[in-house]
Amino acid sequence: MGNNTYYITTPIYYPSDKLHIGHSYTTVAADAVARYKRLKGYDVMFLTGTDEHGQKIQRKAEEKGITPKQYVDDIVAGIKELWKLMKITNDKFIRTTDKYHEEIVQKIFKKLYDQGDIYKSEYEGWYCTPCESFWTKTQLVEGKCPDCAREVELTKEESYFFRLSKYQDRLIKHIEENPDFIQPVTRQNEMLNNFLRPGLEDLCVSRTTFNWGIPVSFDEKHVVYVWIDALSNYITALGYMTENNEDYKKFWPADVHLVGKEIIRFHTIIWPAMLMALGEPLPKQIFGHGWLLLEGGKMSKSKGNVVDPVILVEKYGLDAIRYFLLREVPFGSDGIFSNEALINRINSDLANDLGNLVSRTVAMIDKYFGGVMPSELQQGDFDEDLKKIVMETPIKVEELLDKLQFNTALTEIWKAVSRTNKYIDETAPWILAKDESNKARLAGVMYNLAESIRIISILIQPFMPQTPEKIWGQLGLKNDETVSWESAKVWGRYPHGASVNKGEVIFPRIDVKKELEELEKLSGQNTAEKEKKETKEAPKSSKGDKKEKVEEASELITIEDFAKIDLRVAKVLEAEKVEGADKLLKLKLQMGNEIRQVVSGIAKHYSPESIIGKNVILVANLKPVKLRGIESQGMILAASDDSDLALAALDKDMGSGSRVR
Ligand code: MSP
Repeated sequence: MGNNTYYITTPIYYPSDKLHIGHSYTTVAADAVARYKRLKGYDVMFLTGTDEHGQKIQRKAEEKGITPKQYVDDIVAGIKELWKLMKITNDKFIRTTDKYHEEIVQKIFKKLYDQGDIYKSEYEGWYCTPCESFWTKTQLVEGKCPDCAREVELTKEESYFFRLSKYQDRLIKHIEENPDFIQPVTRQNEMLNNFLRPGLEDLCVSRTTFNWGIPVSFDEKHVVYVWIDALSNYITALGYMTENNEDYKKFWPADVHLVGKEIIRFHTIIWPAMLMALGEPLPKQIFGHGWLLLEGGKMSKSKGNVVDPVILVEKYGLDAIRYFLLREVPFGSDGIFSNEALINRINSDLANDLGNLVSRTVAMIDKYFGGVMPSELQQGDFDEDLKKIVMETPIKVEELLDKLQFNTALTEIWKAVSRTNKYIDETAPWILAKDESNKARLAGVMYNLAESIRIISILIQPFMPQTPEKIWGQLGLKNDETVSWESAKVWGRYPHGASVNKGEVIFPRIDVKKELEELEKLSGQNTAEKEKKETKEAPKSSKGDKKEKVEEASELITIEDFAKIDLRVAKVLEAEKVEGADKLLKLKLQMGNEIRQVVSGIAKHYSPESIIGKNVILVANLKPVKLRGIESQGMILAASDDSDLALAALDKDMGSGSRVR
């Protein structure tokens, strides 16, 4: 394969009735990478698709009295529509019901059988249908599926097995020698310690109790296990094992498989072992991202929040939704989705920061220069610092996007946005405009603003498919080399003489209260509809993950919970030891106009003299308690370990009584 190619995949999606915003997460992230690589000049192959076989689908179709194919066709059409709406630029869309895929999976199965990597035996075990997973008796938890805690069924059947155990040592070696293979690193350790080192068992790879799957070509009462079928999509889509295999030769091995963390086990153990058995190279990286969760639970059970991506895109625009998904949570970690967080981000980052910057700049060029950028420019104070910050941004963004660090890449771009906004305040163009002799300087300021925005608008392209063009329209830029990716690294490409066009507000501000009320109503309707429809359903997941998914969410607190704590800066006026208690100091604190008495367990680490005059952070609304008979009206914050303790402090002086949030 050439150096200039890039192959990225998402998992193929189960056809479930309604995809929620969490589902869009993997695809939007993959799309941002694909767009970025194309902008950098790579020949990109971006693959997504649907995973359509299995008992679960067969049962759902039976419930509805239609064929499985009829059932999935409808849903797959909806998924394709959704990706269109979200401007996902996949180069291919594979369905595991596509004829060519089915044929190649049969060939793969046959090849592995012929060479002895698949063998026939008898299987007795427990099967969890929603998870499409087999379990041994000892793996069950209280007789139920260890992943989803639902009923399992005892199955005994003649089955084919894949010699997974044979590849254990090679897999461990590969993971150890290729630290980038599984990312983030925590997932690597999880796989090694929880699955590989304890030992792999051979994997049951066929079923005979249902028939909605790809038949084993040489033993047609068996269908191929869905994960063998599904994982193969990454190579069948490229024409592997066919005459038409140019894409395979060009793009394999994949640069990255992006997957949610619950399916990393299938991708980092079963899939590489299959490839080893086939004698094919392994993907360069598997990146397991975290989940978007709702406060207190799973996205599919949403109450009080609208999670339907179609409604969200219609209401707030695609770019705002894509921005939020990639900005809010570090890729790799779990994060909370809420309508309130979404609206706050739109208002602060998009309406206030970026949107205002563009509209103010365009309005000023319009007002002061009749909308045409002059060519006589005078440089002045603040220019160098602005240029420095803006010009550092493309380099940082590339480094971060190469590591799939979307949220920090966006944070860097927004640093440039803030720096540019600050430049307006520093240079105060409205004052320059009062005096004709400042005309050239005013023009210099306008140029620097337009130029910074040009660079910013180029850098947001991977994340936001619509906004850059809107900005270019307003700045009078054409979609040509003045906005090429590489041109973001060169200062001064904004054309002199360009005419700006005042346009519509790119990101209108949202009235938070009104909007949340409306969303609350909408989500009520949604949930009622969904609950009527909801059938049992759970994603396939690696051991333990699913339970964690719910628990993690309930351990997190909301911003409202946090807001209940009144944290204040307080100044220590007096301090003295508490008699008979060697750990306690009695402090007199000033908090604004109020004086508070607090008893604190810091005497072993701070003498009374050393603490007087310090600013500390006080939990001001803690219920008063008596310690050694002395009333303590609050608590001061400190970090401690077994041997040491340090008071929490601010990194610059703030008046006592200031709020800490
Ligand atoms: N069909 C399998 C994948 C087979 S790949 C050979 C599958 N499908 S899925 O529809 O359940 O999930 C598709 C993707 O959506 C996964 O990456 C999954 O992690 C992601 N998400 C589904 N819900 C999610 C959240 N709430 N948050 C983030 N991503 C989540 O698994």
